[in-house]
Amino acid sequence: MGIIFNEKSGEFHLYNENISYLMKILRNGQIGQLYFGSRIPQKEHYDYLLENAYRPMSAYVYENEYSFSLEHLKQEYPSYGSSDFRMPAFTLKQENGSSVTAFQYVSHKIYAGKPVLSGLPATYTEKEDEADTLEILLRDELLGTEMTLIYTIFNQENAVARSVRFENRGEVSCQLDTAMSLCLDLPDADYEWVQFSGAWARERYVKNRMLQQGIQSVGSTRGSSGHMHNPFVVLKRPAADEFQGEVMGFSLVYSGNFLAQAEVDTYNVTRMMMGIHPLGFSWCLEPGESFQTPEAVIVYSKEGMNGMSQTFHKLYRTRLARGEWRDKERPVLLNNWEATYFNFDEEKLVQIAKTAKEDGVELFVLDDGWFSTRCGETSGLGDWWANTDRLPNGIKGLSERIEELGLKFGLWFELEMVNKDSELYRNHPDWIIHTPGRTASHGRKQYVLDFSRKEVVDYIFNLVAKILRESKVSYIKWDMNRSITECFSEGYGAKRQGEIFHRYILGVYDLYERLIAEFPHILFESCASGGGRFDAGMLYYAPQAWTSDDTDAVERVKIQYGTSYAYPLSSMGAHVSITPNHQLCRETPIKMRGDVACFGAFGYELDLAKLTAEERRVVRKQIEFVKQYRGMIHRGSFYRLQSPFENNISAWMVVSEDKKQAIVVYIKILNDVNCEFRRLHLKGLDENFCYHAVEDDVEKGDFFGSELMNIGMITSDASAGQALENGDLDICTDFWSKMVILKAE
Ligand code: DGJ
Repeated sequence: MGIIFNEKSGEFHLYNENISYLMKILRNGQIGQLYFGSRIPQKEHYDYLLENAYRPMSAYVYENEYSFSLEHLKQEYPSYGSSDFRMPAFTLKQENGSSVTAFQYVSHKIYAGKPVLSGLPATYTEKEDEADTLEILLRDELLGTEMTLIYTIFNQENAVARSVRFENRGEVSCQLDTAMSLCLDLPDADYEWVQFSGAWARERYVKNRMLQQGIQSVGSTRGSSGHMHNPFVVLKRPAADEFQGEVMGFSLVYSGNFLAQAEVDTYNVTRMMMGIHPLGFSWCLEPGESFQTPEAVIVYSKEGMNGMSQTFHKLYRTRLARGEWRDKERPVLLNNWEATYFNFDEEKLVQIAKTAKEDGVELFVLDDGWFSTRCGETSGLGDWWANTDRLPNGIKGLSERIEELGLKFGLWFELEMVNKDSELYRNHPDWIIHTPGRTASHGRKQYVLDFSRKEVVDYIFNLVAKILRESKVSYIKWDMNRSITECFSEGYGAKRQGEIFHRYILGVYDLYERLIAEFPHILFESCASGGGRFDAGMLYYAPQAWTSDDTDAVERVKIQYGTSYAYPLSSMGAHVSITPNHQLCRETPIKMRGDVACFGAFGYELDLAKLTAEERRVVRKQIEFVKQYRGMIHRGSFYRLQSPFENNISAWMVVSEDKKQAIVVYIKILNDVNCEFRRLHLKGLDENFCYHAVEDDVEKGDFFGSELMNIGMITSDASAGQALENGDLDICTDFWSKMVILKAE
């Protein structure tokens, strides 16, 4: 396990039990990529992997020879402007206007553990022997600028984390216009590109296409990672599926503008890149200044998509999420948003909380509308003090009343935003992101505070900290409901305007960090109009995120399924809401809503008093179930069994760490008539364990793991016609789900 440098061949070999990552110092001093994949042996050299041959129309670096063209070389961090005509990993503009560079290997260091990236989220180690790190220092002699390529290979997980640091050690300033976090040149293009894309209320739908010659990419230029595309993509072999085959997942640990791109060149070499989106980005490096890119994580799996996801889940749940709440069981919460929207007062909230307590809820969350003049979307944002007309005892008084009921209290904030109708805006109109002389576009009647400026972040910190210091707040929902437009900061000069998007997100991270440091007991849930900033960067600060504003159970099957490719179940805020559903008016049974939501950080988004007695009975059972199994669901191995993007019937399961328990959920969207015989092949069980199966409280008998995995679980159900004849209306509905609990002695 570790990192080897072979001085003679100039090769670096990063490896653990299952994977190898091989690089070489090239003749021109740049770093070449030789191999990434399943573990291969350490050899004297792997020179045969340098497939550098003469090709017409290419350009060659050394005079009088036709065997060294950057166009043909697979590289680790390719530059712009020499003999490689593909997209570069970075561009550095110099005083004379040129962006041509020549970074060459200077030295390297190898050490146990993993460095912290100051001000940025990143995976971490708890013990040094969990990972090894390689830092390769390169220098452009003409400029004096240095670049450090940073690689960490984890020993237990088939994952490599990468980032790059630039440092201007020269005499004059230069400017980064592109600075990717990772670049990986792969020797062929026989991959399906899988992206997780959608929109508000349909986040992270799974979309596949074969790679083709040319560029394919997803990204965000909105200031946040966004609903439209996730900073996570997969390259999978066409024959790979959920359970077998070669798959690589690429995840950016960042919450701002991003680009994920695969360029297939004329020789079918695939250049995969990921990092801050170059559009709207530049970073001025004065002498002595440095720039650190965000981290990107690559996971390699030979066990298909599920294998990849399980690696991400474990890594992100245990070595990205931090703090007191990382390993703690998450409270069952009830959020008042869909129960009241802006229409509430203290008594109404206490009533809702009381009912919630009766049914077993543990945390009551007060959403938008509790502060200043905020009784609708148009005013109050930025003025973080309680509206005492609605809450005569303030947040302090309300939180104490909620705690007296035996519940914990949580509070909503949208700290990055301001309404023009607010004291904050009236006092500091220059504190919003806007371009002087241009119209500032609004989103939901609100404007984005200029978090690139420390004084703005300080101001907000002081307001929030005051409330948190005097009240009993155990949870914060940190919302963010618009994109950044007319990006410009009055706090910086012309040269620095390309830095504002990134400086903004650094400001967000800084505020999180300061709040976490002073209030470590608070559980943070991030949110951005639902799942508009559901990314690995956020998980470093908030171990859970509101997955989507869409709480319809049918839609949630897809959204949670898509989200699960990278992110652990413990990170997915998942609530049961009222029907007809507020987003798409669909009626689904409360059982199905619960069966889907309990595979996340579980809660309710309604006033339980509005439910029927029978629904309340189901709710109580759901809560009991979640309390009993949430630890196992969050820590166990998650298997996607049948995709809602391909089937009317979708299924997934979780297997406990010791394999003695498993929970399977099976969801039929639309009922069907006289259907085929069906079996569901389970995964991850111990072949030799005998599992006792209980399906929705009905004993189903005992089955060996090998039976359930090889033969499958029989899931044929009566068709619509038969069910009607038998009078068994329960199994004759659309939007139907069942849950099977398996236990071995
Ligand atoms: C958007 C969030 O996604 C909702 O859950 C809710 O908190 C509203 N904002 C409140 O304005």
